[in-house]
Amino acid sequence: MTRWRVLLVLALGRSDCPGNDKADFEACQTDIFLGGSIRDETPQTVAPSQQPGRASAACMDWPGCAPLGLFGDCCPSNGGAMLGCCSAGRRLALLQMERKGVTIDDTTLQYCARRIPGEWPNAEAPLTSLRLFQTWNTQWPVEGRKASWQGLVDFVRTHGVKVLVGTPVTCVLADDEQTWAWTKEFLGMVGPENIMGLAIGNELELLADHADEKCIEELWEGGRLWKTFNQRVSEFDEMGFSHIPVTSVFTAAILSGNPFMDVPGKALVNTFLRQAMWKYGARYAFTFNVYPYFDPNLRMNAGSRDNCSESLKRATCWQGGGIS
Ligand SMILES: *[C@@H]1O[C@H](CO)[C@@H](O)[C@H](O)[C@H]1NC(C)=O
Repeated sequence: MTRWRVLLVLALGRSDCPGNDKADFEACQTDIFLGGSIRDETPQTVAPSQQPGRASAACMDWPGCAPLGLFGDCCPSNGGAMLGCCSAGRRLALLQMERKGVTIDDTTLQYCARRIPGEWPNAEAPLTSLRLFQTWNTQWPVEGRKASWQGLVDFVRTHGVKVLVGTPVTCVLADDEQTWAWTKEFLGMVGPENIMGLAIGNELELLADHADEKCIEELWEGGRLWKTFNQRVSEFDEMGFSHIPVTSVFTAAILSGNPFMDVPGKALVNTFLRQAMWKYGARYAFTFNVYPYFDPNLRMNAGSRDNCSESLKRATCWQGGGIS
């Protein structure tokens, strides 16, 4: 899905990655470029570091550039995702990159964790923070777990990166317990220096769209989320992370309430956040997934085919007209 695209941006973004093993990174980039996903092609018993390299994807002008009036750094040349197709003068200004981070998608985490670029694609700025939705998934081959984690830990330590670590809350309790056990193991490997925060549950106000009523009622009305949250935090504290922020990540949809969504049978987010503030105070961080590119109201400037400066103002800084 969309989160997976972050991988493509990352993986195809740079072929010269100072601070990383270039050969490794190019092999990874090419694998993804050629195969769409490494998962289909790589025998699951092969550790990421042992994957055979392949020829590099060519980096040259893309034929779609000229009709757009663009030139330069277009890559790749024959299909796949087009990341850069801009002359330097048309690039967006990069602002406060040290305060921004990248979400690590599932494929990168499983197969390429050690090859994450230390710099933002197309920018001379170091990557300072990462987000993991989960440290490992019960559906993923377990034998790759430790090697991937070690790669990620090496990356994070080398570059002084802080990680927002997510641990899922779902309707499958056994999976949640397993992923939490893995999360703790991973946290122990990373250590507090490189942990930005712990996120327990992601977009749980949307869970009702996919889950049965009983699960939803138990989670919110029944207090399972609150109980699970406290259990996780208390174990996190025992491991020496008691000064690190904790959170649950929601979408902007929770802003539809007073002040937050509190709809029985769907999501009692307001109730949860009140409890969290009461118990954890400022340590509880409010966290939102905001996706401006899902906003159907964002268009090119009136009368323009290639200038979206007005929408950019809205999407990046909530500035400009038309915000309802
Ligand atoms: C895009 O439009 C804005 C607002 O009209 C203008 O200030 C800016 O110069 C335009 N940018 C380009 C690259 O044409």
